[in-house]
Amino acid sequence: MKKIILLVLFFFVCSPSPSDPYSAFRPGELWLDDNGVHINAHGGGILWHDGAYYWFGEHKIEGRKGNAAWVGVHVYSSTDLYHWRDEGIALSVIKDDTTHDLREECVLERPKVIYNASTKQFVMWFHLEFKGTNYRTARSGVAVASHVTGPYSYVRSFRPNAGFWPKNIEEQQKEAPEKYRDHDYSGGSLPDETEKLNICARDFAGGQMARDQTLFVDDDGSAYHLYASEENSTLHISKLTDDYLSYSGEYLRVFSGRFMEAPAICKRDGKYYFIGSGCTGWAPNAARSAVAESIWGPWRELGNPCVGESAEVTFHSQSTFILPVQGKRDAFIFMADRWTPDNAIDGRYIWLPLLFRGDRIELEWLDEWDLSVFSRQNE
Ligand code: GAL
Repeated sequence: MKKIILLVLFFFVCSPSPSDPYSAFRPGELWLDDNGVHINAHGGGILWHDGAYYWFGEHKIEGRKGNAAWVGVHVYSSTDLYHWRDEGIALSVIKDDTTHDLREECVLERPKVIYNASTKQFVMWFHLEFKGTNYRTARSGVAVASHVTGPYSYVRSFRPNAGFWPKNIEEQQKEAPEKYRDHDYSGGSLPDETEKLNICARDFAGGQMARDQTLFVDDDGSAYHLYASEENSTLHISKLTDDYLSYSGEYLRVFSGRFMEAPAICKRDGKYYFIGSGCTGWAPNAARSAVAESIWGPWRELGNPCVGESAEVTFHSQSTFILPVQGKRDAFIFMADRWTPDNAIDGRYIWLPLLFRGDRIELEWLDEWDLSVFSRQNE
């Protein structure tokens, strides 16, 4: 009898647990952290540092009120990308100062963190809307930490590139037509001929608008900020200063009048690949993609990278980041959010392998997959 019990015990201890839910990605399912709680890192980004991945994202709370920031930026760590350990709140909103930029109930979205090797600082950028401004603030926020998981201290928020013209502005775009100069477009769509409004000129002195955003560090250590600008009509790519804390004044207008949001970018074989979305709030729409040989363009649109069922709504999600998988060639994970604005905390994560097919990039739905797809892709 004893022998049988020992044998059974041996079997349970030694066989791989078929119930470990996390030896694969299951896009759209609940994804529990090491405490058994659904990961709370929406609109996020991932930094690889010293042998571990760190996933930063918006901490949401229950209900519709959860679409505003009541807590801050949550961070998790992992060494295998399947199992995530809760590392707590990296950047907290401010509860007891009603004049602070980051006061409770501001909107703090799409945080991304990069590491500056010269200053040895971790630098976080995010989209900030002051409390109660209904997305009219359109500023970039910056916070820093000396330890990857924080705590991050808030540095400041601002609108990009005040007093600087983009590299590719044309002379006739430097004057904003009088009748549109002070126009507030909040709550309404822009007039048809968006390009004629010269919104970049309107915002020249005070700085450009910045909403959905991401960061990218190139091989030479230069960092770039990509954000939806000009009332969301045009994306800007801005080079940051060497300390990553500000704008260098060098920037490009791209996809003008295309209303692209949710920017994500990666580099493969010397080419830059971009994925973004259209502009329909929390509701999903068809993703867009583009490629360029230089970050300064020209950028060539490649169309919707999604194929198959629900491709026209990006599998019910919106892009947020493209993650290079460490130690594997050409291995990138497309990360997106399936928003649930009526109960913000329940938002799901859609992670899919990015497929390079000839000149195009593609995304195909998979109910379940693991990192071995990348080995197969490169065989
Ligand atoms: C989306 C954007 C989200 C959030 C939302 C608010 O278009 O990508 O980050 O800002 O609008 O409606």
